[in-house]
Amino acid sequence: MSEAKKLYIKTYGCQMNVYDSERMAEALGGAGYVETKTPDDADMILLNTCHIREKAAEKVYSELGRFKGLKAEKPDLKIGVAGCVAQAEGEEIMRRQPLVDLVVGPQSYHRLPEMEAKTQEGVKALDTEFPEEDKFERLKSRPKAKRGPTAFLTVQEGCDKFCAFCVVPYTRGAEVSRPVDRILTEARDLVERGVREITLLGQNVNAYHGAGSDGSDKTLAQLIWELDKIDGLERIRFTTSHPNDMDDALIEAHGTCNKLMPYLHLPVQSGSDKILKRMNRSHTAESYLRLIERIREARPDILMSGDFIVGFPEETEEDFQATLDLVEEVRYGYAYSFKYSTRPGTPAAERPLVDEDEASERLQRLQALITRDQRAIQDEMVGREVKVLFEKPGRFEGQMVGKSEYLHAVHVDKANAAAGDLCAVRIVESGTNSLKGILA
Ligand code: SAH
Ligand code: SF4
Ligand code: F3S
Repeated sequence: MSEAKKLYIKTYGCQMNVYDSERMAEALGGAGYVETKTPDDADMILLNTCHIREKAAEKVYSELGRFKGLKAEKPDLKIGVAGCVAQAEGEEIMRRQPLVDLVVGPQSYHRLPEMEAKTQEGVKALDTEFPEEDKFERLKSRPKAKRGPTAFLTVQEGCDKFCAFCVVPYTRGAEVSRPVDRILTEARDLVERGVREITLLGQNVNAYHGAGSDGSDKTLAQLIWELDKIDGLERIRFTTSHPNDMDDALIEAHGTCNKLMPYLHLPVQSGSDKILKRMNRSHTAESYLRLIERIREARPDILMSGDFIVGFPEETEEDFQATLDLVEEVRYGYAYSFKYSTRPGTPAAERPLVDEDEASERLQRLQALITRDQRAIQDEMVGREVKVLFEKPGRFEGQMVGKSEYLHAVHVDKANAAAGDLCAVRIVESGTNSLKGILA
């Protein structure tokens, strides 16, 4: 048998891309590739790209430019672009960067092995369709090798919400959910290979409605209760949720399902009703706050996380102040904030922009407030006992690092524990980005 070819994948963007990259590596594993950590010795380079903001998309072209030298040295090197830039820009990528051999959109990854074969014959390959067949069903099943204690599992893809600023409905297509049985099979397989925590992924994961084995559609809450029955699976998380899809059963599960972790990422984007309306979010700041109240009634210690866009077209200082007020009221344990980035083809792209300096200044103010709460919430963990799922050794001999229920990074010196151990830990110190604990 010929020597294995080497595949280098670089992943940008959200966790769904991380999951897709794993599955692409597995699919190309069937075509004789093993993964390598550097582009230098690769036979194929695959960039799994993100189109969410302008900078993310531009990064791809500058990265591609850097491979020119490599390709000159090694003419057989194949270069591919996958992910959301591939979907959005398709042939344009090959025109702008002739050294690209292959462009594959997120719904066509199961066709990668055939496409790779085509490139070996010197033919360029492009596939950015939204085919009828389920890409995950067609992708080879995951190999049985041992793996780390945490894993992502995509259960839903696409988005029907069409927020006025966002490219996702165009790059990932309409909302589609995977059937319950296939998810359970994949979850059991992951657990057999050492996984103890699964994060269910979807662009709108709580809009999940996949076919159950009895033929009727199941909700995310129902799927979580099915996963709850898997022995050896200790923790379940899900991301990202839309406020309008938080149904009663899902809220209740946060209070009653022990495996469901007390952490919820629930983006709101803005605290101003005028801006929310223009964003086409179809909820108000008030309805969002009342929703969080209900979630906290079900699970009082839940740690909330969110996403914000500042400088959305026509955002005034008063609108921005409403965002700050909302942040004050919610007290997020984590929050991600971005300056609005115009995405061609989206409805908001036609509207008048906020002054760039003004937007930057607002972003700084928002981030300062978020950091304050984040630090305070982290500091409040000192003295408390949490459960830590250890993931890997730390920098020092005997040190282990892992995550608490609340997704805080925790390190324990002389832990005498292995990756995959779930241990009671008393928090003794709060650092910049992590907590220090001792075994309880
Ligand atoms: N489906 C998820 C996440 C979508 S993308 C959701 O609805 O929450 C992740 C985040 O990127 C969004 O929540 C939003 O805050 C940000 N984002 C999306 N489009 C953007 C744009 N054009 N400019 C700036 N930030 C954007
Ligand atoms: Fe984008 Fe809105 Fe869909 Fe989230 S809900 S992916 S922000 S369109
Ligand atoms: Fe980016 Fe696509 Fe995810 S645009 S955020 S990689 S869905």
